[in-house]
Amino acid sequence: MVEMTASFELEIQALDDDHRALMALANRITDALDNDAAATCEPLVADFVKLTKQHFGREEALLTRAGYPKVKKHHDHHRSLYGKMDHMLEFAAMAGENPLARESLKKELNYFVLDDVITADMEFKDFIHDHPTSS
Ligand SMILES: [Fe+2]
Ligand SMILES: [Fe+2]
Repeated sequence: MVEMTASFELEIQALDDDHRALMALANRITDALDNDAAATCEPLVADFVKLTKQHFGREEALLTRAGYPKVKKHHDHHRSLYGKMDHMLEFAAMAGENPLARESLKKELNYFVLDDVITADMEFKDFIHDHPTSS
């Protein structure tokens, strides 16, 4: 289970709401994997990937509007995660009959949400607070 604590907050509502939604979805998938409902997790993982990509687009647009100087670097970081998302989809497709795929998917998801998505965003938190945009 991953949980949103104050240290993970960017204090930018639209982005924090996305992060919270991604955590909630990761937890739902973990629950399904832990409760013999692995076969149901495939569409949930597809939703997770879709929401993640939408979130990246929203975040990059906000960073561009704010004039964040390292927006290209953060954009490249986001793109570098597409391969991991492909792996998650592959694991999800196998999760029903493969315990190893279930464990790998759980680990990947939790690490992905906490480190690759949320912690990686902390690098622009101060900049955005000093250069607020209207949304
Ligand atoms: Fe983010
Ligand atoms: Fe990000």
